[in-house]
Amino acid sequence: MKRLYIDTVGCQMNVLDSELVVADLRSHDFEPVDRPGQADVILFNTCSVRQHAEEKVYSNLGRLRQLKQENPDKVIGVIGCMAQNHQQRVFKRAPFVDLVVGPGQLHQLPELIEKVERGKGRQIEVSLGRKDGNRLQILRSHESFDPLRDPQMRPTPFQAYVRTQIGCDKFCTYCIVPSVRGPEQARSPEEILAETQHLAEHGCLEITLLGQTVNSYRYKDGEKTVRLADLLYQMHDIDGLQRIKFVTNFPKDMTDELLSAVRDLSKVSPYLHVPAQSGSTDVLKRMKRGYTAEEYREMMDRINEQIPNSAVSSDLIVGFCGETEGEYQKTVDLVRDCRFKNSFIFKYSVREGTKADQLFEDDVPDDVKRRRNNELLALQNQISEEDNQAFIGRSLDVLVEGLSKAALDQARKGTVPILFGTKFASRFFSGIGLAS
Ligand code: 5AD
Ligand code: SF4
Repeated sequence: MKRLYIDTVGCQMNVLDSELVVADLRSHDFEPVDRPGQADVILFNTCSVRQHAEEKVYSNLGRLRQLKQENPDKVIGVIGCMAQNHQQRVFKRAPFVDLVVGPGQLHQLPELIEKVERGKGRQIEVSLGRKDGNRLQILRSHESFDPLRDPQMRPTPFQAYVRTQIGCDKFCTYCIVPSVRGPEQARSPEEILAETQHLAEHGCLEITLLGQTVNSYRYKDGEKTVRLADLLYQMHDIDGLQRIKFVTNFPKDMTDELLSAVRDLSKVSPYLHVPAQSGSTDVLKRMKRGYTAEEYREMMDRINEQIPNSAVSSDLIVGFCGETEGEYQKTVDLVRDCRFKNSFIFKYSVREGTKADQLFEDDVPDDVKRRRNNELLALQNQISEEDNQAFIGRSLDVLVEGLSKAALDQARKGTVPILFGTKFASRFFSGIGLAS
């Protein structure tokens, strides 16, 4: 048995990829361990959505330099979005790294690790860039990694992610995802349903469908096109399954059919994460989001009309190129009017090679970004607090997901006992949501 340590940052898609990588490597005689020092193979599953996430990986890698010097046989790999984004640059900045594997090449990991172990030197496998071939070649080079699920490898036994599609074709100007995760490619409904059925048979109560823009899901099946709403109706019939969620949604694809499905299907959670990104139509235009602030508000009205008990959450970017105080105030207004259940707020971070990087200047000073971020967060916290008051005294069904991150840290330090189901959870920390 060889020992594997995997560190995961980024969105739910990375959490799922890590689960699948661990399951795949377990079938190749690896067992997971809790600390890099104990491992023969150390993998970092990385995120490129903001620069900060990438810098953190380099600083974590830096801490392994000495370990590698003392134990040259240990294999160190960078996988996921930053591997695809930086490619050879990873070797330049961290020369002791042995492996660089993009998210579309994860199926090759066992073989690549073996090559390194056999002394064949550094290995790199990445997919084609969005302009590096014809459409078919590019599509094929980004492979969905969907090996059979290993129930033991899930962060909790009761919940699981199921992928509906990989990649993204929206090309919002600030976003790196379409370059690193490639073109949008849907999994077949048969595969999605079979996987869900299998998970339910193994005790899974809650499934979260995952796609960068999950509600854009389209699968052409002969004459008919299967959409997300159709998948929800079919999943609803699966015995044992109690709750179905889906993330992340793109505002323009929030169709009435989908909203009706959420309203009519009791297992579908009325929780909708629909990132607005900004409340200013001018900023949305520069972001190339494809909708106006007015259209987003109309979508909110439709959601509230059709699903009165719904909870909508959002992602918002502050300090995008050229964002004036007036434009930022429109985002404040949007948050105040929509009363999101929760908002994930981010300071704009330039991503090399994106349209925004080519077309605009990152001209909002960092202290202004920080102030806008803090103000918006304070407003959102106040709204969430007020909303939560309405739950005092009510009885609700809840699914206990496991220990919080703080409790897990305590568990690792030995101050609270580790419970069933949390053994592997510590490796699956998800810092941010999917981009959409
Ligand atoms: N800078 C800041 N935030 C970004 N996001 C995506 N790209 C960037 C960027 N370049 C945010 C979006 C997305 C979330 C996951 O990350 O709000 O929805
Ligand atoms: Fe696609 Fe979402 Fe990125 Fe836009 S923000 S390009 S929809 S992943």
